[in-house]
Amino acid sequence: MSSSTKIIRGSFLDFVNDPFYQSEVDSVRYLPDGLLVVENGKIKAFGTYESLKEQYANDEITSYQDKLITPGLIDLHVHYPQTEMIAAYGEQLMEWLDQYTFPTEAKFKDREYARKIASFFLDELLRNGTTTAVVLTTIFPQSVEAIFTEAQSRQMRIIAGQMLMTRNAPDFLLNDAQTAYAQTREQIQQWHGLDRLLYAITPRFAITSTPEELSLAGKLKAEFADVYVHTHLAENVQEVQFTAELFPESKDYLNVYEQFDLIGDRTILAHCVQLDDSAFARLSDAGAAIAFCPTSNLFLGSGLFKLDQAKSTQTPIKVGLATDVGGGTSLSQLKTMSDAYKIMQLQNKSLSVFQAFYLATLGAAKALSLEDQIGNFELGKEADFVVWDLQATPLMKLRNPDPKSKNLAELTEKAFAMMILGDERAVTATYVAGEAVQFS
Ligand code: GUN
Ligand code: ZN
Repeated sequence: MSSSTKIIRGSFLDFVNDPFYQSEVDSVRYLPDGLLVVENGKIKAFGTYESLKEQYANDEITSYQDKLITPGLIDLHVHYPQTEMIAAYGEQLMEWLDQYTFPTEAKFKDREYARKIASFFLDELLRNGTTTAVVLTTIFPQSVEAIFTEAQSRQMRIIAGQMLMTRNAPDFLLNDAQTAYAQTREQIQQWHGLDRLLYAITPRFAITSTPEELSLAGKLKAEFADVYVHTHLAENVQEVQFTAELFPESKDYLNVYEQFDLIGDRTILAHCVQLDDSAFARLSDAGAAIAFCPTSNLFLGSGLFKLDQAKSTQTPIKVGLATDVGGGTSLSQLKTMSDAYKIMQLQNKSLSVFQAFYLATLGAAKALSLEDQIGNFELGKEADFVVWDLQATPLMKLRNPDPKSKNLAELTEKAFAMMILGDERAVTATYVAGEAVQFS
């Protein structure tokens, strides 16, 4: 056995199909006693302990008794420069941006400062069991360099790009469209596909870009077919109205992006709370992905995302879960799942624990077209995973007196209680590319 081989024993949960469209039995894979074999950062074998034990009888095994192991979580939309202004009081989107967000983002002109916050942010993601994230930066190239450099040193899968902004923000956060185009182009060549890093062309939202800038963003997308486009869409009523005033020729908000050729199967759109049926249908046809941001939508009073419509059979759309910190209130995807559940309850709908975990694992991997690399324990995939403690706090222990689940029915209840009560305290260990992360 080579020194880079690791064998992990425990209870494993992952997905082989979409539990929004298939029964739990057909979509959820639960191995109460399983074995995961990792070699050179990738999954080499995975199955029940019984079926693999003889093959690995002489090898050292790391056992996580009474714990639950899932694939590493994916955060489909999060602003790293906003980490330090999380929990800013009292405003909805447009005022919140002016009062709190823009002044904070200005600090990222300072390279050292950007490095410091990028480092803190990525450590927090890992502490929360998040191993892949789609990250927004600022208009400053040094803020992009900071997040990619820190992610590379942690071997993380991070998708990021320079924020494009040319109007409707303070001067200190505006760039020139041609300059931003050239900077983005250079960064794509430098970072896209380097180790586990990928690039996203990132206009902040329609309001802060001129038509020229959106047109240059579309040009970049055409030049680099496998680069992502990442932006916000239809989060807040006032934002939708202002967008309509700025782009009178577009028939709706989504159509602004469509007109500049920014919508495709590598486009990630955050929020989509204020969308009508036509927009849902067009996103479905285009194969674009939505980042559902529950804690942010509640905190900023944006509204209730129609997850059931996005995951309908009529207009199926790829959806992943996202924290959207600093509009969101936590980097914990457990807390995000918990608020997703409440958002569905407010619409007289439900969200099972397995659907919630799907949105943060295989569902998000599919939203990124990365399901060949991450998202579940299929052989050959990158070995990012999280070891969860269902009894992490006294209350969780009272609620889950027996952490073992013999079958899916037992796991359903216990994992749901963890999803509602848990946060980063429930993370016993996070593994990135087969290596356990050392938390400070
Ligand atoms: N829309 C444009 N910028 C932002 C941002 O920073 N946060 C959120 N939640 N929405 C936005
Ligand atoms: Zn956002």
